[in-house]
Amino acid sequence: MGKRIFSGMRPTGRLHLGHLAGALTNWVKLQDDNECFYCIVDWHALMSDYADSSKIKSNCKEVFLDWLAAGLDPEKATIFIQSHVPYHTELHLALSMVTPLGWLERNPTYKDQILNIQNKDLSTYAFLGYPVLMAADILLYKGEAVPVGEDQTAHLELTREIARRFNNFYGDIFPEPEGLFTETPKVPGTDGRKMSKSYGNSIDIADEPEVIWEKLRTMMTDPARERRKDPGDPAKCPVWDLHKVFNKNAAEKESLAEGCRTAGIGCVECKKSLYGHVMTLLEPIQQRRAYYETHGDEVTDILREGAKVAKEVAAKTMSEVVEAIGF
Ligand code: ADP
Ligand code: NA
Repeated sequence: MGKRIFSGMRPTGRLHLGHLAGALTNWVKLQDDNECFYCIVDWHALMSDYADSSKIKSNCKEVFLDWLAAGLDPEKATIFIQSHVPYHTELHLALSMVTPLGWLERNPTYKDQILNIQNKDLSTYAFLGYPVLMAADILLYKGEAVPVGEDQTAHLELTREIARRFNNFYGDIFPEPEGLFTETPKVPGTDGRKMSKSYGNSIDIADEPEVIWEKLRTMMTDPARERRKDPGDPAKCPVWDLHKVFNKNAAEKESLAEGCRTAGIGCVECKKSLYGHVMTLLEPIQQRRAYYETHGDEVTDILREGAKVAKEVAAKTMSEVVEAIGF
């Protein structure tokens, strides 16, 4: 049945429309025809937040609710939390044996984060090894394809190199996973930059409708459009950037763009239309979220079952690994 697919997300708290349109929508599609493993990688969160681990558990819960709400389906995919499957750490150690230090030191993401993240000390042994744990996550399930953002290209290449090197030493155990790149790599936030929690420009999946409208209503538009009668340029408007992602009605988009250029419509009208499209997408998602929020036992069961299935697959890979090494 299709491919073995693995993808993970760090538990950063409530997810936003960037996560939804940039990743989850695709994950939901993939689960129909493939064997998917979707994992909340809490050990990865600890690598950057070891000085304050107090929120990791509750963040896992929020992400899990958002995943179920978005349509990840425990009947179709294995959905679980990394730390519930201890084999991730064992394979991480095994892979670290064959990973040259230079590969990790040259990793552009690592260099970038060490230089630019000022509010925490990331110069730990574990943080340097972040891509080794990611390789372990994927290879533990013999992932053949990994839906990732473009920002993960270098990490995925490292996974392939680590798999190759391990196979060279000990035998052909791991596939070299390919990346499945998303069609929407950069969902913009309310300020035109990439939507991100750290920029404070996000619309969360679980935001109340009034909150979403307030965020859209107060968005900047083309600065040249000071008054209602000034013509505007959609290319200079962050509201338009969001229409491009969330408004699937080509004829309506055409007429909004025309209305903007000729000052035939005002920005509020354009924002109301966007709000409508966002809420059409989010309504069923928020309904599912509300259901799971009040059915905690069901959520716990799904997590337990996910971990059980993941553990079986992981145990099998790990026993092959140990045998290949010759322990
Ligand atoms: P991590 O990859 O460490 O879990 P993120 O929370 O940044 O961190 O992203 C999780 C996933 O959501 C990734 O696949 C990422 O590419 C995607 N994603 C996050 N924000 C956006 C965005 N604004 N546009 C498109 N995709 C996004
Ligand atoms: Na499936």
